[in-house]
Amino acid sequence: MTFLITGGAGYIGAHVVRAMAEAGERCVVLDDLSTGDARRLPEGLPLVVGSVLDRDAVEDTLDRYGVTGVVHLAAKKQVGESVEVPLHYYRQNLHGLTVLLEAVAAAGVRGFLFSSSAAVYGMPDTDAVTEDTPCAPLSPYGETKLAGEWLVRAAGQAHGFSTACLRYFNVAGAAAPELADTGVFNLVPMVLERLDAGRAPRVFGTDYPTPDGTCVRDYVHVADLADAHLAVARALPGRGAGDLTVNIGRGEGVSVREMVDLINEVTGIGIAPETASRRAGDPARVVASADRVAAELGWKARHGVRDMVESAWLGWQHHRRG
Ligand code: WQD
Repeated sequence: MTFLITGGAGYIGAHVVRAMAEAGERCVVLDDLSTGDARRLPEGLPLVVGSVLDRDAVEDTLDRYGVTGVVHLAAKKQVGESVEVPLHYYRQNLHGLTVLLEAVAAAGVRGFLFSSSAAVYGMPDTDAVTEDTPCAPLSPYGETKLAGEWLVRAAGQAHGFSTACLRYFNVAGAAAPELADTGVFNLVPMVLERLDAGRAPRVFGTDYPTPDGTCVRDYVHVADLADAHLAVARALPGRGAGDLTVNIGRGEGVSVREMVDLINEVTGIGIAPETASRRAGDPARVVASADRVAAELGWKARHGVRDMVESAWLGWQHHRRG
């Protein structure tokens, strides 16, 4: 198989590329470098700088490299921003996906892996979210991921390629400092940024119906997430034209308060957090059931939250030094 990895120069994409390349899979990356960084890619790995919205670039890449499998991560991913510019999100995430799938259907690709998100569930009313928990996204971002899944499955069924939708829960950490997340949009980097600047980290809401009053999430190490992509990508061609939709989480809830305490401990900085008001649209608890992916593929996360925080802190210091 030769895999096209769209968005392969991004934080998650680069981890996927590294895991697949180290496992001996042939890979080519398509990335418009709008948020990605070519320096994250292994030496010599082919990079096509272009957008999934550019039909010619997509068709040319599939053809030139003889692509037989696609791992599609190129997308916009900020929930708040998607509320402000929904048209942009729908265009980038859904129109881009449509262009890619049209090219894929014509090129005889055998497997398509789609990067989805726990955001498809919205505000799940259950302790452990299974893949059968009803989907009710709360943002245009989540909507584009849910509609993207529909599109991927329908195209796979109609054109005879196998599909997989990976619903990531809260991704954190880095497999190597240079691959770390450089965006400051999620809990771990936001807390690191404030601690490093000598400021108190913020906890958005302490009056949720959870044991310590702060929101509970399911954090998964990006290296484990990358291994899940490798396992799924390898399994896809053998699965016929069916679909595999799986949660990628650890099945363990960690509260914001616990995470902030751990980050304070790992960094040795130790500044008590301050309570800020609730962030609109935050569900109290989102924790995966990771049973299906374990049963179907034998995949299970190996790293815990301490590994995520320690590696994120190393990555933070690496990028801060420039
Ligand atoms: C986690 C918790 C915050 C910063 C989002 C998307 C999801 C996926 C991951 C893209 C929340 C709290 C945060 C801070 C805080 N995105 N928090 N202080 O909202 O669970 O998930 O990102 O694919 O689809 O919805 O992640 O990291 O933003 O927040 O108290 O300084 O930390 O309120 O409860 P979230 P997050």
